[in-house]
Amino acid sequence: MKNKENESMVKFRNLFSSNKDIIVENWLSVSSLRDMKTLAPNLYSEYLKKPDDLKELVGQFFIATNAHRIQEIGLILEACDYPLWKHYMEIGVGWGVTCSSMAGLIFSREDKRECSLTTVDFKGSRIAGKKISNARQININSIISENQYSQWSHSDVGSDIFFKTLEQTSPKKKSAGIDVVFIDGDHSFKQTKRDWENVSKHLSESGIVFMHDLKWRTQKLNYPNVALRAFELIPGDKWDRYILDTPYRLGVVHRKSAGSTKEWLEEKIKHLNIKIRPWDRRKDK
Ligand SMILES: C[S@@+](CC[C@H](N)C(=O)[O-])C[C@H]1O[C@@H](n2cnc3c(N)ncnc32)[C@H](O)[C@@H]1O
Repeated sequence: MKNKENESMVKFRNLFSSNKDIIVENWLSVSSLRDMKTLAPNLYSEYLKKPDDLKELVGQFFIATNAHRIQEIGLILEACDYPLWKHYMEIGVGWGVTCSSMAGLIFSREDKRECSLTTVDFKGSRIAGKKISNARQININSIISENQYSQWSHSDVGSDIFFKTLEQTSPKKKSAGIDVVFIDGDHSFKQTKRDWENVSKHLSESGIVFMHDLKWRTQKLNYPNVALRAFELIPGDKWDRYILDTPYRLGVVHRKSAGSTKEWLEEKIKHLNIKIRPWDRRKDK
Protein backbone atom coordinates (compact mmCIF):
# COMPACT_ATOMS: atom_id res chain seq x y z
CA MET A 1 0.00 0.00 0.00
CA LYS A 2 1.33 3.42 -0.89
CA ASN A 3 1.76 5.79 1.98
CA LYS A 4 0.98 9.09 0.32
CA GLU A 5 -0.31 11.76 2.62
CA ASN A 6 -1.01 15.40 1.95
CA GLU A 7 -3.37 18.04 3.23
CA SER A 8 -6.33 16.97 1.13
CA MET A 9 -5.93 13.36 2.15
CA VAL A 10 -5.89 14.32 5.81
CA LYS A 11 -9.00 16.37 5.25
CA PHE A 12 -10.59 13.51 3.40
CA ARG A 13 -9.73 11.08 6.15
CA ASN A 14 -11.25 13.41 8.72
CA LEU A 15 -14.48 13.05 6.81
CA PHE A 16 -14.41 9.36 7.60
CA SER A 17 -14.41 10.07 11.27
CA SER A 18 -16.92 12.92 11.23
CA ASN A 19 -19.40 10.90 9.16
CA LYS A 20 -18.36 7.50 10.35
CA ASP A 21 -21.73 5.81 10.19
CA ILE A 22 -22.49 6.90 6.70
CA ILE A 23 -19.09 6.88 5.12
CA VAL A 24 -17.59 3.80 6.69
CA GLU A 25 -20.68 1.63 6.54
CA ASN A 26 -21.77 2.58 3.07
CA TRP A 27 -19.10 4.05 1.01
CA LEU A 28 -16.12 2.09 2.19
CA SER A 29 -18.10 -1.08 2.20
CA VAL A 30 -19.12 -0.67 -1.42
CA SER A 31 -15.81 0.57 -2.67
CA SER A 32 -12.79 -0.33 -0.58
CA LEU A 33 -13.90 -3.70 0.60
CA ARG A 34 -14.57 -4.79 -2.94
CA ASP A 35 -11.14 -3.55 -4.01
CA MET A 36 -9.51 -5.01 -0.93
CA LYS A 37 -11.01 -8.43 -1.55
CA THR A 38 -9.44 -8.49 -5.00
CA LEU A 39 -6.19 -6.65 -4.42
CA ALA A 40 -5.30 -7.71 -0.89
CA PRO A 41 -7.19 -10.89 0.05
CA ASN A 42 -5.18 -11.50 3.22
CA LEU A 43 -5.92 -8.04 4.52
CA TYR A 44 -9.55 -8.62 3.63
CA SER A 45 -9.79 -11.82 5.67
CA GLU A 46 -8.16 -10.03 8.63
CA TYR A 47 -10.80 -7.33 8.29
CA LEU A 48 -13.60 -9.91 8.29
CA LYS A 49 -12.29 -11.32 11.59
CA LYS A 50 -12.21 -7.94 13.35
CA PRO A 51 -14.23 -5.41 11.34
CA ASP A 52 -14.66 -2.93 14.20
CA ASP A 53 -10.95 -2.79 15.01
CA LEU A 54 -9.91 -2.53 11.41
CA LYS A 55 -12.25 0.14 10.06
CA GLU A 56 -9.41 2.63 10.02
CA LEU A 57 -7.42 0.23 7.86
CA VAL A 58 -10.23 0.15 5.33
CA GLY A 59 -10.10 3.94 5.18
CA GLN A 60 -6.35 3.84 4.63
CA PHE A 61 -6.79 1.26 1.92
CA PHE A 62 -9.31 3.44 0.17
CA ILE A 63 -6.95 6.41 0.29
CA ALA A 64 -4.11 4.32 -1.09
CA THR A 65 -6.07 2.83 -3.95
CA ASN A 66 -8.07 5.93 -4.85
CA ALA A 67 -5.42 8.56 -4.25
CA HIS A 68 -5.82 9.76 -7.82
CA ARG A 69 -9.41 10.80 -7.16
CA ILE A 70 -9.01 12.42 -3.78
CA GLN A 71 -8.60 16.00 -4.92
CA GLU A 72 -11.58 15.99 -7.24
CA ILE A 73 -13.93 14.15 -4.90
CA GLY A 74 -12.65 16.51 -2.21
CA LEU A 75 -13.72 19.49 -4.32
CA ILE A 76 -17.19 18.07 -4.98
CA LEU A 77 -17.57 17.34 -1.28
CA GLU A 78 -16.62 20.93 -0.45
CA ALA A 79 -19.49 21.97 -2.71
CA CYS A 80 -21.84 19.81 -0.62
CA ASP A 81 -20.99 21.89 2.41
CA TYR A 82 -21.48 25.34 0.89
CA PRO A 83 -24.60 26.90 2.49
CA LEU A 84 -25.60 28.80 -0.66
CA TRP A 85 -26.17 25.51 -2.51
CA LYS A 86 -28.92 23.11 -1.54
CA HIS A 87 -29.87 20.95 -4.52
CA TYR A 88 -27.39 18.38 -5.75
CA MET A 89 -27.35 15.91 -8.61
CA GLU A 90 -25.06 13.17 -9.87
CA ILE A 91 -25.51 11.67 -13.34
CA GLY A 92 -23.85 8.25 -13.41
CA VAL A 93 -23.38 6.89 -9.90
CA GLY A 94 -21.46 3.67 -10.53
CA TRP A 95 -21.16 1.87 -7.19
CA GLY A 96 -21.98 5.02 -5.29
CA VAL A 97 -18.50 6.09 -4.23
CA THR A 98 -19.06 9.79 -4.78
CA CYS A 99 -22.78 10.08 -4.08
CA SER A 100 -22.54 8.21 -0.76
CA SER A 101 -20.00 10.75 0.36
CA MET A 102 -22.08 13.62 -1.00
CA ALA A 103 -25.07 12.28 0.92
CA GLY A 104 -22.93 12.00 4.05
CA LEU A 105 -22.08 15.68 3.90
CA ILE A 106 -25.42 17.04 2.72
CA PHE A 107 -27.32 15.16 5.37
CA SER A 108 -25.00 16.22 8.15
CA ARG A 109 -25.92 19.85 7.44
CA GLU A 110 -28.20 21.71 9.80
CA ASP A 111 -30.42 22.75 6.91
CA LYS A 112 -30.56 19.21 5.49
CA ARG A 113 -34.36 19.26 5.24
CA GLU A 114 -34.13 22.07 2.73
CA CYS A 115 -31.53 20.16 0.70
CA SER A 116 -31.92 17.38 -1.84
CA LEU A 117 -29.78 14.86 -3.65
CA THR A 118 -30.90 13.40 -6.97
CA THR A 119 -28.93 10.58 -8.54
CA VAL A 120 -29.49 9.16 -12.00
CA ASP A 121 -28.03 6.05 -13.55
CA PHE A 122 -29.02 3.84 -16.45
CA LYS A 123 -30.30 0.33 -16.00
CA GLY A 124 -29.57 -0.69 -19.56
CA SER A 125 -26.04 0.64 -19.49
CA ARG A 126 -23.57 -1.45 -21.48
CA ILE A 127 -19.82 -1.42 -21.86
CA ALA A 128 -18.39 -3.55 -24.65
CA GLY A 129 -21.79 -5.21 -25.02
CA LYS A 130 -21.92 -6.21 -21.35
CA LYS A 131 -24.67 -4.98 -19.06
CA ILE A 132 -23.04 -3.20 -16.20
CA SER A 133 -25.35 -1.40 -13.96
CA ASN A 134 -28.25 -3.44 -12.58
CA ALA A 135 -26.32 -4.44 -9.47
CA ARG A 136 -25.34 -0.81 -9.06
CA GLN A 137 -28.96 0.33 -8.90
CA ILE A 138 -29.67 -2.24 -6.20
CA ASN A 139 -26.63 -1.05 -4.33
CA ILE A 140 -27.64 2.61 -4.45
CA ASN A 141 -31.23 1.85 -3.51
CA SER A 142 -30.10 -0.19 -0.53
CA ILE A 143 -27.78 2.60 0.61
CA ILE A 144 -30.68 5.05 0.43
CA SER A 145 -33.19 2.84 2.17
CA GLU A 146 -30.78 1.82 4.96
CA ASN A 147 -30.29 5.45 5.79
CA GLN A 148 -33.88 6.52 5.16
CA TYR A 149 -32.87 9.64 3.34
CA SER A 150 -36.16 11.08 2.20
CA GLN A 151 -34.35 13.87 0.34
CA TRP A 152 -32.28 11.49 -1.79
CA SER A 153 -34.08 10.18 -4.83
CA HIS A 154 -32.54 7.78 -7.30
CA SER A 155 -33.70 7.07 -10.81
CA ASP A 156 -32.42 4.34 -13.11
CA VAL A 157 -33.95 5.44 -16.40
CA GLY A 158 -30.90 7.25 -17.78
CA SER A 159 -30.37 10.99 -17.95
CA ASP A 160 -32.30 11.61 -21.22
CA ILE A 161 -35.55 10.13 -19.94
CA PHE A 162 -34.98 11.63 -16.51
CA PHE A 163 -34.90 15.18 -17.88
CA LYS A 164 -37.72 14.55 -20.34
CA THR A 165 -39.93 13.34 -17.50
CA LEU A 166 -38.88 16.25 -15.31
CA GLU A 167 -39.96 18.71 -17.96
CA GLN A 168 -43.26 16.96 -18.58
CA THR A 169 -44.17 16.59 -14.93
CA SER A 170 -42.99 19.94 -13.59
CA PRO A 171 -42.65 22.38 -16.47
CA LYS A 172 -42.93 25.36 -14.15
CA LYS A 173 -39.95 24.21 -12.15
CA LYS A 174 -37.89 24.24 -15.31
CA SER A 175 -35.44 26.75 -14.00
CA ALA A 176 -36.12 26.25 -10.31
CA GLY A 177 -32.54 25.37 -9.88
CA ILE A 178 -30.20 22.52 -9.31
CA ASP A 179 -27.14 24.03 -7.66
CA VAL A 180 -24.43 21.42 -8.05
CA VAL A 181 -24.25 18.74 -10.74
CA PHE A 182 -21.63 16.06 -11.24
CA ILE A 183 -21.86 14.65 -14.78
CA ASP A 184 -20.11 11.29 -14.79
CA GLY A 185 -22.30 9.00 -16.90
CA ASP A 186 -21.67 7.91 -20.46
CA HIS A 187 -18.61 9.93 -21.49
CA SER A 188 -19.32 9.94 -25.21
CA PHE A 189 -19.55 13.30 -26.98
CA LYS A 190 -23.23 12.90 -27.88
CA GLN A 191 -24.44 11.89 -24.43
CA THR A 192 -22.28 14.41 -22.57
CA LYS A 193 -23.51 17.17 -24.88
CA ARG A 194 -27.15 16.20 -24.19
CA ASP A 195 -26.44 15.96 -20.47
CA TRP A 196 -24.87 19.42 -20.48
CA GLU A 197 -27.79 20.91 -22.45
CA ASN A 198 -30.32 19.44 -20.04
CA VAL A 199 -28.35 20.34 -16.95
CA SER A 200 -27.69 23.92 -18.04
CA LYS A 201 -31.44 24.52 -18.47
CA HIS A 202 -32.04 23.54 -14.86
CA LEU A 203 -29.00 25.09 -13.23
CA SER A 204 -29.55 27.83 -10.64
CA GLU A 205 -27.97 31.25 -11.19
CA SER A 206 -25.05 30.51 -8.87
CA GLY A 207 -24.91 26.82 -9.85
CA ILE A 208 -21.80 24.83 -10.69
CA VAL A 209 -21.29 21.79 -12.92
CA PHE A 210 -18.47 19.28 -12.62
CA MET A 211 -17.73 17.08 -15.64
CA HIS A 212 -15.59 14.05 -15.12
CA ASP A 213 -13.00 12.42 -17.34
CA LEU A 214 -12.10 15.09 -19.83
CA LYS A 215 -8.89 13.20 -20.48
CA TRP A 216 -10.29 11.34 -23.41
CA ARG A 217 -7.93 8.41 -23.57
CA THR A 218 -9.33 7.10 -20.27
CA GLN A 219 -12.65 6.57 -22.04
CA LYS A 220 -11.14 4.46 -24.81
CA LEU A 221 -12.89 6.76 -27.25
CA ASN A 222 -11.28 8.86 -29.92
CA TYR A 223 -11.48 12.59 -30.31
CA PRO A 224 -13.97 14.09 -31.23
CA ASN A 225 -16.33 11.41 -29.85
CA VAL A 226 -15.44 12.33 -26.30
CA ALA A 227 -16.70 14.33 -23.31
CA LEU A 228 -13.92 16.88 -23.82
CA ARG A 229 -15.48 17.93 -27.12
CA ALA A 230 -18.84 18.58 -25.45
CA PHE A 231 -17.02 20.66 -22.86
CA GLU A 232 -15.21 22.68 -25.52
CA LEU A 233 -18.52 23.56 -27.20
CA ILE A 234 -19.97 25.23 -24.10
CA PRO A 235 -20.22 28.90 -25.12
CA GLY A 236 -17.48 30.91 -23.47
CA ASP A 237 -19.34 34.22 -23.68
CA LYS A 238 -21.89 33.02 -21.14
CA TRP A 239 -20.02 30.40 -19.11
CA ASP A 240 -16.67 30.24 -17.35
CA ARG A 241 -14.99 26.89 -18.01
CA TYR A 242 -11.96 25.35 -16.38
CA ILE A 243 -10.14 22.06 -16.81
CA LEU A 244 -8.60 21.05 -13.51
CA ASP A 245 -5.25 19.36 -13.52
CA THR A 246 -6.39 16.18 -11.77
CA PRO A 247 -5.32 12.82 -13.21
CA TYR A 248 -8.51 12.27 -15.24
CA ARG A 249 -9.23 15.99 -15.68
CA LEU A 250 -12.28 17.43 -14.01
CA GLY A 251 -14.15 20.10 -15.99
CA VAL A 252 -15.87 22.87 -14.04
CA VAL A 253 -18.47 25.26 -15.45
CA HIS A 254 -20.46 28.16 -13.98
CA ARG A 255 -22.20 31.25 -15.30
CA LYS A 256 -19.92 34.18 -15.98
CA SER A 257 -22.28 36.28 -13.90
CA ALA A 258 -21.84 34.00 -10.85
CA GLY A 259 -19.17 35.99 -9.01
CA SER A 260 -19.56 34.21 -5.67
CA THR A 261 -19.20 30.84 -7.39
CA LYS A 262 -15.98 31.96 -9.04
CA GLU A 263 -14.63 33.10 -5.66
CA TRP A 264 -15.67 29.82 -4.05
CA LEU A 265 -13.89 27.83 -6.74
CA GLU A 266 -10.71 29.88 -6.54
CA GLU A 267 -10.54 29.47 -2.79
CA LYS A 268 -11.24 25.74 -2.80
CA ILE A 269 -8.85 24.73 -5.53
CA LYS A 270 -6.13 26.70 -3.80
CA HIS A 271 -6.91 24.91 -0.56
CA LEU A 272 -6.93 21.49 -2.24
CA ASN A 273 -3.79 22.37 -4.17
CA ILE A 274 -5.46 21.80 -7.55
CA LYS A 275 -4.06 23.62 -10.56
CA ILE A 276 -6.08 24.83 -13.56
CA ARG A 277 -4.77 23.44 -16.85
CA PRO A 278 -4.23 25.53 -19.90
CA TRP A 279 -6.48 24.21 -22.66
CA ASP A 280 -4.40 21.71 -24.55
CA ARG A 281 -7.51 20.39 -26.21
CA ARG A 282 -6.87 17.54 -28.60
CA LYS A 283 -3.35 17.03 -27.32
CA ASP A 284 -4.72 16.24 -23.87
CA LYS A 285 -5.21 12.55 -24.34
C1 LIG B 1 -17.82 6.11 -14.10
S1 LIG B 1 -19.31 5.45 -13.47
C2 LIG B 1 -19.76 6.68 -12.32
C3 LIG B 1 -18.88 6.77 -11.07
C4 LIG B 1 -19.43 7.70 -10.02
N1 LIG B 1 -19.76 9.00 -10.57
C5 LIG B 1 -18.48 7.88 -8.86
O1 LIG B 1 -17.75 8.88 -8.80
O2 LIG B 1 -18.45 7.02 -7.99
C6 LIG B 1 -20.39 5.74 -14.84
C7 LIG B 1 -21.85 5.39 -14.59
O3 LIG B 1 -22.65 6.09 -15.55
C8 LIG B 1 -23.79 5.31 -15.82
N2 LIG B 1 -24.42 5.81 -17.07
C9 LIG B 1 -24.08 5.57 -18.35
N3 LIG B 1 -24.90 6.22 -19.19
C10 LIG B 1 -25.77 6.93 -18.43
C11 LIG B 1 -26.88 7.81 -18.70
N4 LIG B 1 -27.24 8.14 -19.94
N5 LIG B 1 -27.56 8.34 -17.66
C12 LIG B 1 -27.20 8.05 -16.39
N6 LIG B 1 -26.17 7.23 -16.07
C13 LIG B 1 -25.48 6.68 -17.08
C14 LIG B 1 -23.25 3.88 -15.88
O4 LIG B 1 -24.29 2.93 -15.67
C15 LIG B 1 -22.22 3.90 -14.75
O5 LIG B 1 -22.80 3.45 -13.54
